[in-house]
Amino acid sequence: MYDIKELQRIVNETIVNETIGREPFSLYDPINYTLQSGGKRIRPVLVLMACNLFSDEIKHAIRPAIGLEIFHNFTLLHDDIMDHADIRRGNLTVHKKWNENTAILSGDAMFIKAYEYFLDCESPNFRDILKVFNITALEVCEGQQYDMEFEERENVAEKEYLRMIELKTSVLLAGALKIGALLGETSESNANLLYEFGKNIGLAFQLQDDYLDVYGNVDVFGKQIGGDIVANKKTFMLIKALELAKGDIKDELMDLLKQQSFDRDTKVTDVTNIFNRLGIQDIVKQKIKNYNNNALNFLSQVSVDENRKSELNKLTENLIKRES
Ligand code: IPE
Ligand code: IPE
Ligand code: MG
Ligand code: MG
Ligand code: MG
Repeated sequence: MYDIKELQRIVNETIVNETIGREPFSLYDPINYTLQSGGKRIRPVLVLMACNLFSDEIKHAIRPAIGLEIFHNFTLLHDDIMDHADIRRGNLTVHKKWNENTAILSGDAMFIKAYEYFLDCESPNFRDILKVFNITALEVCEGQQYDMEFEERENVAEKEYLRMIELKTSVLLAGALKIGALLGETSESNANLLYEFGKNIGLAFQLQDDYLDVYGNVDVFGKQIGGDIVANKKTFMLIKALELAKGDIKDELMDLLKQQSFDRDTKVTDVTNIFNRLGIQDIVKQKIKNYNNNALNFLSQVSVDENRKSELNKLTENLIKRES
């Protein structure tokens, strides 16, 4: 069995050796810049872990795992344009370092590259693997579209938010696990249980991301704090705040959301103070714990020797505590 660190090392070494040195450099430089800029590599590690759960051989899972990481990185290039984000992994985002057109086109090229990696995959389950990848990629677009639409809406129900983050984030973690399970050639039932496990860690993961966007440390998180507040993102925290705020606090919050021109730092501080006054931190932390417990419940039903689940259990533990 491989541990998380070893799998991260395999992913990073493979990516470092894959630098694309072709012209036009203005297309490929941003791709290499992004892929070499680190990141937690959670999705490829999940592919490899799920495969390793059922098979001691994981070599054949490396190319699709990297394909999924390239896909994830592509979504970040476009997401950072959509979210007007200047910093990612502690570096300037591609659309800031180059320009928006470059970020769009380099992103497109990464999506194509992702398929190239999947094509290298030798597995009797190849068609099913590609199907999972396709459905997942489309769902991410759906989630991103809802995310954008919700910025403009005054009211978004908690249920709608949860569906949105399921699409934009969870299904990719779930899909990574299912692809890994298919590469490990396990039963359909095990593959589906891992998918559900992934969906729940994915929901916890995005809730934690929303939390860190307010309460994180820029140097550790690698992204600018407060981006979601500035964009009026309907995060779980804002939805809860809108639900719980009454009287003056509610008026103050509504005014902040309606401001057309404002000082960035002031808005971030004011909205954060409202979250603090309403005790939103504890509510989101509890919600994250619930999803983690749901996840562990699905993992416990996967029919494989318990010892083999230790790394996935550990990863779940780590994700709940993550600061980056
Ligand atoms: C960022 O994903 C996008 C979200 C779904 C929140 P990660 O937090 O996995 O980003 P990296 O790859 O580790 O930088
Ligand atoms: C990211 O959601 C989802 C995708 C990139 C598909 P966020 O917009 O919250 O991710 P970050 O915070 O920019 O990493
Ligand atoms: Mg976004
Ligand atoms: Mg974003
Ligand atoms: Mg975020």
